[in-house]
Amino acid sequence: MKILFIGDIVGEPGRRYVGEILDQMLPEMQPDLVVANAENATRGRGLSRRSAEELYDAGVEILTMGNHTWDQRQIFEFIDDDMRIVRPANYPQGTPGRGFTVVRVGKQEVLIINVMGRTFLSTLDCPFEAVEKILADHPQIRHVLVDMHAEVTSEKLGMGWAFAGKVSAVLGTHTHVPTADARILPGGTAYISDVGMVGPHDGILGMKREQVIRRMRTQLPTKFEVADGPRQFCAVMLELDDESGKAVRIEQVHYEEPST
Ligand SMILES: [Fe+2]
Repeated sequence: MKILFIGDIVGEPGRRYVGEILDQMLPEMQPDLVVANAENATRGRGLSRRSAEELYDAGVEILTMGNHTWDQRQIFEFIDDDMRIVRPANYPQGTPGRGFTVVRVGKQEVLIINVMGRTFLSTLDCPFEAVEKILADHPQIRHVLVDMHAEVTSEKLGMGWAFAGKVSAVLGTHTHVPTADARILPGGTAYISDVGMVGPHDGILGMKREQVIRRMRTQLPTKFEVADGPRQFCAVMLELDDESGKAVRIEQVHYEEPST
């Protein structure tokens, strides 16, 4: 089973680039499932209904989220009904939406979980316990992806090692900068600290760099807007054993337009 996991999609440039790259890639790479982190897909913060539909039309089948899940308030109108959207599972009980979803791929079921780290982010419930509980509730599923949306690599590595041999992949998102540590952990768990992002390459995390630098220098409140210019596409292609769900390959998939 081949799964393409796309890193944080930032704003309209990110959504458009996902469409363009998938148009080229899908016939050639033929993934069985396409998952993407979409918490920045609408103007860099949150996910509108229109942005979600645009990504589904482009070929993305499941959208994972993170700390910006609620930034587009209209998400409260559709998150409960759309089984393709997965927000962090370690929000308190009663939070709208769902922290995992199950999708059928051929003869197999794939469990997709989203959790959020707690270092330099909201202090949610324990992400490790959240994953443990979801796994315990789905003992029959062997193909399991965990999107670990977190700020620090140590916490992501913690998630990777804690579930090495127990899930198919632990994939880091949120920092928008791809890391060079893609590997298969013992027991067949694909791991990377951060997949990277899709969107403007010459901004800072996809936002206009002048605005971000102004805030860093002055510490004053500053409006952030999605940058323009050349774009990058960061994803990983996973290959999982059809029967056992163990990862046999993780490969970074990067495209970028030249900087001007
Ligand atoms: Fe994030």
